[in-house]
Amino acid sequence: MSHFKALRIHQVEKTTQARFDSISIDELSAGEVVIRVAYSSLNYKDALAITGKGRILRGFPKVAGIDLSGIVESSRDAQFKAGDEVLVTGCNIGEALDGGLAEIARVPVSAVVPLPHGLSLAEAMALGTAGFTAAMALRRMLENHQAPEMGAIAVTGPTGGVGSIAIDLFKQAGFQVAAITGKLSAESYLRDIGADEVIERQTLDFGSQPMAQPLLGARWGGAVDNLGGETLAYLTRTVKPWGNIASIGLAQAPTLATTVIPFILRGVSLLGIHSVECPREWRLDLWNKLAGDWKPRHLKTIAPREISLEDVPAVCEEMIAGKAQGRTVVRIGS
Ligand SMILES: NC(=O)c1ccc[n+]([C@@H]2O[C@H](COP(=O)([O-])OP(=O)(O)OC[C@H]3O[C@@H](n4cnc5c(N)ncnc54)[C@H](OP(=O)(O)O)[C@@H]3O)[C@@H](O)[C@H]2O)c1
Repeated sequence: MSHFKALRIHQVEKTTQARFDSISIDELSAGEVVIRVAYSSLNYKDALAITGKGRILRGFPKVAGIDLSGIVESSRDAQFKAGDEVLVTGCNIGEALDGGLAEIARVPVSAVVPLPHGLSLAEAMALGTAGFTAAMALRRMLENHQAPEMGAIAVTGPTGGVGSIAIDLFKQAGFQVAAITGKLSAESYLRDIGADEVIERQTLDFGSQPMAQPLLGARWGGAVDNLGGETLAYLTRTVKPWGNIASIGLAQAPTLATTVIPFILRGVSLLGIHSVECPREWRLDLWNKLAGDWKPRHLKTIAPREISLEDVPAVCEEMIAGKAQGRTVVRIGS
């Protein structure tokens, strides 16, 4: 294929514009492995980049998409050969490097993961960066001694991709899960995927200013936070002694106004989650877990639809408006 279709983001004066372009391989960022893309997926970061609502891309024009799965066309590195099924999430694709929302991708060999047994190319993208990130949160919390007896795990932004998969993973790992959502209308969806309790975020008592009231009643065994801002501050003040909070996202705000009191009087730990760059050993281990014992049980409910490349811009607008639910897989190749 000398030319192929790609959703590229261009800089137009001080704004950005997403367009469907016909491009050649030579126009892609450098890499050892050329992949015929079968599927990609949409993450919050993709929605920010494609709608222009967030500064995600480093350099223009750039093919969008931080995730892909597909078949190797050619490889200049002996670890992969033509015909291999692979996946790529994060590793700067769709940010500093060209990404997965195109019929062909070219990526550094260090980013490529052999598709683990137990996952199809479509399932790999139903999980995508969101699933990988939720799995990293579970791994880090278990390593830091989070246990079901400590109490329920609060998951914020639970109707989103990371939150939905986190509910499924933690429930399957033996934890009670409380979904703290802005959309009570999604209660039956959240219970279907494993939430034991569904709480409307707006009904929580965030207390007075965190600085004046640094501890509230201890309620959660631990937490997976996708929102940041006052919600994360609330979690630091309400997690029980020795509980962990995995800090993943900033859908509400990038700020955190709290005190050190929860850390020094309750032994609470705030664990950073960074899915883009992590040791390759963790990456391979987490993908093997996601294909094996940790494989979410409700993936079909969480990712019920496949859209086409042409549908991507409209679905990204829905995500930014907070209207999307679960995961969206983008079907690209046959
Ligand atoms: N650290 C990492 O490596 C990493 C990896 C992946 C994602 N992330 C971040 O994690 C967050 C979630 O990602 P995602 O892909 O799951 O996104 P998503 O599918 O768009 O879901 C985000 C969820 O957050 C809630 N939400 C959205 N806008 C909000 C707002 N303005 N105020 C409060 N709540 C809001 C909604 O859940 P409810 O309506 O149920 O509350 C929404 O479903 C994002 O900030 C993303 O950038 C970080």
